[in-house]
Amino acid sequence: MIALGSEIEMGYDDVGVGLPVVLLHGFPHHRGLWAPQLGALVDRCRCIAPDLRGFGATVPSGPYSMDRYADDVAALLDRLGVERAVVGGLSMGGYVAFAFWRRHRARVRALLLADTRAGADDAAARGRRDQMIALVRDRGSGAVADAMITGMVGKTTRARNPEVVDAIHAMLEAAPVEGVVGALEALRDRPDSTPTLATIDVPTLVVVGEEDALTPPAEARAMHAAIAGSRLEVIPEAGHVSNVERPAAFNHVVSEFLGVLTYA
Ligand code: MLT
Repeated sequence: MIALGSEIEMGYDDVGVGLPVVLLHGFPHHRGLWAPQLGALVDRCRCIAPDLRGFGATVPSGPYSMDRYADDVAALLDRLGVERAVVGGLSMGGYVAFAFWRRHRARVRALLLADTRAGADDAAARGRRDQMIALVRDRGSGAVADAMITGMVGKTTRARNPEVVDAIHAMLEAAPVEGVVGALEALRDRPDSTPTLATIDVPTLVVVGEEDALTPPAEARAMHAAIAGSRLEVIPEAGHVSNVERPAAFNHVVSEFLGVLTYA
């Protein structure tokens, strides 16, 4: 745990040495989402995985927004003495990575955008966020986990690896209600990052699970087309949490990307 100013304490992992790589989890995950990457990448880079405000060991404290999550990450890097890092995010973590790019771009060595999208919520999606807020307030995070789990994990994983489904369900279920509500408000009200894509001029890897139903491959292709020089990798037989469902395949494409950065 590390104190960010006098305001909040942030939980994080910081393992390995070398090129700093920040890994931002999605909704409603915690930093444990990145366990398969920390174990594999520790030999080649310094992996920093925080719990975003209101998740894991980072205390809930509103108001919540993508900008605020991004500023928390910048404050964590300050405390850790890291000037510049590869910034990676999965899904909501990708939305935070876009905010980080807009607000702290000099600190971004490269971007990893995994199972995410650039666009904002439309009116129907905003309505679903409000329904989810009512659901979690009424019935707790277990009900959110039940509602999200099928979309969160790909059909191949659901058929072949029920233990992965159970582990992800347990992570969703453990999310603090206040953090979930705050994140849903931040998701609902986040800006459209589509105009941001053309401003990205650092090496960028876009990764998506072939079976991702929440942020489908078409979203990844659109980001790849709009970010000059970016690279796109589609992970076969993986859904929305592609890094957990096919860790070896995910780590392989990320390692190749980081290898080019390290030795360029
Ligand atoms: C996530 O995995 O972070 C969420 O599915 C993102 C979203 O709901 O937009």
